[in-house]
Amino acid sequence: MKHILILPGDGIGPEVTSQAVRILQTVLSHHQVIYQLDEALIGGAALDACGEPLPQDTLHRAQQADAVLLGAVGGPRWDQLPAGQRPERGLLALRAGLCCFANLRPIKVMAPLLSQSALKNQRALGVDLVVVRELTGGLYFSEPRGMQREPTVAAWNTMRYEAAEIDRIAQVAFQLAERRSGKLVSVDKANVLEVSRLWRERVDRLAHDHPGVAVQHQYVDNAAMQLVLAPQQFDVLLTENMFGDILSDVGGAVVGSLGLLPSASLNAQGKGIYEPLHGTAPDLAGRDVANPIGAMLSVAMLLDHGLGMPAAAQAVRTAVEQALRYGRTADLAAEGMPVLGTMAFGDLVLQVLHDEVPKDRKEGQGA
Ligand code: IPM
Ligand code: MG
Repeated sequence: MKHILILPGDGIGPEVTSQAVRILQTVLSHHQVIYQLDEALIGGAALDACGEPLPQDTLHRAQQADAVLLGAVGGPRWDQLPAGQRPERGLLALRAGLCCFANLRPIKVMAPLLSQSALKNQRALGVDLVVVRELTGGLYFSEPRGMQREPTVAAWNTMRYEAAEIDRIAQVAFQLAERRSGKLVSVDKANVLEVSRLWRERVDRLAHDHPGVAVQHQYVDNAAMQLVLAPQQFDVLLTENMFGDILSDVGGAVVGSLGLLPSASLNAQGKGIYEPLHGTAPDLAGRDVANPIGAMLSVAMLLDHGLGMPAAAQAVRTAVEQALRYGRTADLAAEGMPVLGTMAFGDLVLQVLHDEVPKDRKEGQGA
């Protein structure tokens, strides 16, 4: 029996998650997997219901589950709360509580969506890279951190990494590069930060054990520019927590919409949290317009990494890509292509998965 915990969260989280869950249920049934889905609270929804962004019960159930599928957390309603009580703290506490230090963020331009890229299309063509982001250390978690009003108004955070934390995330990136094209770009700010100099030292050390992987180092400012100018040069991009947060959103511009990107956050046992990158998008929430593809592709990653079902994962990716020929959500609007709501796009992907390409639908022109 597979236990999957669903954490819909806030904003568009519940809408995109429910479409992704329909896909998950269909695929698991197709493959005769016996499963149980549970739902729990996180983020603002949890704050409203029980006064804390990650209730003990949610963490406990996440620890028991085989995999966690998450929507998004946060929103303007909770923006005025002190840092320690914001919805985002719930997500960070979940990542830390499950020790999910390895965040994989694939950034792949899908053929039918090439013209959606913010880049010149010949630059975006064939882009297929993975950001490997360290997720439980660095500036997000290190102490000391704080804010004071007296005697001077000031605030501070710390970026600290222990060698072992760098080694374990670099190890993930090296292994991934070995399975892919053997190219690894490690991103840091070694011209300024001691943390980055240690980062570089540890990555170079590990490189000796992985002779099949060609390692290149880039400064983070340059990497941001390279992702826009020449994203095809990247295959596996390894970086620390904060840099990875920033660079992976650049990936949203490369593929055309942040709504398309999935992620997996894994711990040493391979247990993971699967979530789209897009956040809560409060302006879209409750309007049935959000793009559920990031959440659906997160289900594909869950099938792949969490349940060891690569064929099922591929079936989901193929169905999503095929569905894009018949209709799209508003963020991907193109001439001659029907604009669908979140639920209608979910219906369409399900139809494709059931191998009933809709007779009442025509292929659009807007490739
Ligand atoms: C992400 C998000 C989160 C992060 C926020 C919501 C805490 O931006 O997953 O990229 O910064 O990690
Ligand atoms: Mg982010």
